Amino acid sequence: MSQTIPISFTLNGRLQELEVEPHELLLDVVRDRLGMTGAKRSCDVQVCGACTILVDGRPLSACTTLAFEVRGKSVLTIEGLADDGKLHPLQEAFIEHGGFQCGFCTPGMILASKALLDENPSPTEEYLKHFMHGNICRCTGYKKIIESIMAAAKKMRA
Ligand code: FES
Ligand code: FES
Repeated sequence: MSQTIPISFTLNGRLQELEVEPHELLLDVVRDRLGMTGAKRSCDVQVCGACTILVDGRPLSACTTLAFEVRGKSVLTIEGLADDGKLHPLQEAFIEHGGFQCGFCTPGMILASKALLDENPSPTEEYLKHFMHGNICRCTGYKKIIESIMAAAKKMRA
C-alpha cells in the first residue's frame, strides 16, 4: 500500500485539504474527487489543452501534473471564473461570437486565453495564435475562437 501525501491548496478560492497518492494526477483529483468536471481529459499526454487549468495564474495541463505539485498554490478551473454569477468577458465573448460548438475544448481555451490576456492585454492575432497553439479544437476551425478572444480583449481594455 502506498503512502498518501497531505496537501492543501485553494481551488476556485476555497481551501481544499486532502490526502493524495503520490502518483495521483491533478486532473483526477479536480474532476473525480472535487467535482470540477470542466477540465476535460482527451489526449492525456499534454498535447490537446482540453485539461488546461490555471495554477497561480499560469496555464497547465492537469493530465500530466501530479496533484501534490499544487501544494500551497491557487488553482482555477472554469467553474471558478464567473464572478458572483457574472460571466467573465471571455465567457461572454465565446457565447456572443460563436467560439464553441461541442464545447469540449472550451474550458481549456478560455483559461489559456485568460492567462494570455492577464499577461498581455493587447495581443496581436499572430501572437494569440502562437500562444494558443497547444489548445486543439475539432469543431470550430479556430476562426470564431480567435474572434472571441480578440473581442474579449477589447472589452477588457475598455
Ligand atoms: S488531456 Fe491534457 S493536454 Fe490533452
Ligand atoms: S468546440 Fe468542439 S472541440 Fe472545440
